Amino acid sequence: MPLAPDIPRLLDELSKLAEISAHPAPAVTRVLFSAEDLAARKWLLARAAEAGLATRADAVGNLFITLPGSEPGLAPVATGSHTDAIPNAGAYDGTVGVLGGLEALRAIREAGETPRRPIELVMFTAEEPTRFGIGCLGSRMMAGTLGADGARALRDADGRSLEELRPGDCTGPLESVQLRDSTYFRFIELHIEQGPELEATGTDIGLVGKIAAPAAFRLRFSGSGGHAGAVLMSERHDAFLAAAEVALVVERAALESPSNDTVGTTGVVEVKPGAINSIPCDVLLEIDFRDTDLAAREEAIDRIRREATRICDRRGVRLDWACINSDPPATCDPAILELAARNADALGYSHTRMISRAYHDSLFMARLCPTAMIFIPCRKGWSHRPDEYASPEAIARGTTLLAHTLLDLANLPDPPDTPDA
Ligand code: GLV
Ligand code: MN
Ligand code: MN
Repeated sequence: MPLAPDIPRLLDELSKLAEISAHPAPAVTRVLFSAEDLAARKWLLARAAEAGLATRADAVGNLFITLPGSEPGLAPVATGSHTDAIPNAGAYDGTVGVLGGLEALRAIREAGETPRRPIELVMFTAEEPTRFGIGCLGSRMMAGTLGADGARALRDADGRSLEELRPGDCTGPLESVQLRDSTYFRFIELHIEQGPELEATGTDIGLVGKIAAPAAFRLRFSGSGGHAGAVLMSERHDAFLAAAEVALVVERAALESPSNDTVGTTGVVEVKPGAINSIPCDVLLEIDFRDTDLAAREEAIDRIRREATRICDRRGVRLDWACINSDPPATCDPAILELAARNADALGYSHTRMISRAYHDSLFMARLCPTAMIFIPCRKGWSHRPDEYASPEAIARGTTLLAHTLLDLANLPDPPDTPDA
């Protein structure tokens, strides 16, 4: 039976969700556990309840929306993404996977299909690192990569903890967030590409084989401050100038890496005291560094660390280097990708294999169960900006392919050697 997601309904929901934002349209800002994030969660749960789907939340605020299977004892197939959005982002990053996932569940049910295995939609807590400085918080904890103690130690810029900020329906110990490896049978995430390749080649669907590995570092530079007029240049230990040199090393290390996929970004710079007539004495940099090739990434990071130490020694500035996270890349499951490719062929969609340079909750779900991702094109590859855009046709194709692939995965026979119930 062909599945027919209701695309006008999905587009309407995408635009309603985009209105829940701390910044005016077209910008979307929904930072974890802000009023807007809480409103978006409530709105999503109401859509699920309207569709007659059971919902629950875990202790870190991951939301689960379940379409029952005919054999409820079996491990569910899962899909999902995130609804949080960095400041001044767009309306499609993460939300296409969540609302497209919800539409896929409804399409399966409206076609009169009852999958063998339950199908679960997950809205992951804080895929974006905005509040606590660490990305994929919900899926990271589900996979056990971040434990309960690590999560309890997190503080936002105002010194508030996760337990303080989480809403009332997210109860229980943070220890309970971690899942067993057998919790899910398979996971597949729908997402906009966030890069230009699909649009440039006129390809409908990207099937992601590998997800780049992100690493993030917090560097604190302590120099000595003083009067901008009174302290001679030869006497200075300017923390900002040391940091500025290091930011250029980050760029050079990425540019000169033998891997084409190495990228490095110094996205956070805080300069204190931040007065025009005062020498910077205390500077914070946050650096994001990524590659699909772990060895190339680590080599480039070693170089940055060595050169940063030399720069700070030369300038008489103290450097404290802290690793926020350093995650290995994920390889997607070839069998899910083959199944999705067959479904794309049957639906008449062109498709290509690709890598994901952005990270996603799939990076952590891949540690729990065989995982894959479906990408759809977005305009000019723009993302994390208000003019991010995916066309109705692209969203329709991605959601239809997701629905078929979820249903097929949910109906797969049990693998002979791995009972999963
Ligand atoms: C996720 O949003 C990323 O930064 O890749
Ligand atoms: Mn994002
Ligand atoms: Mn995303």
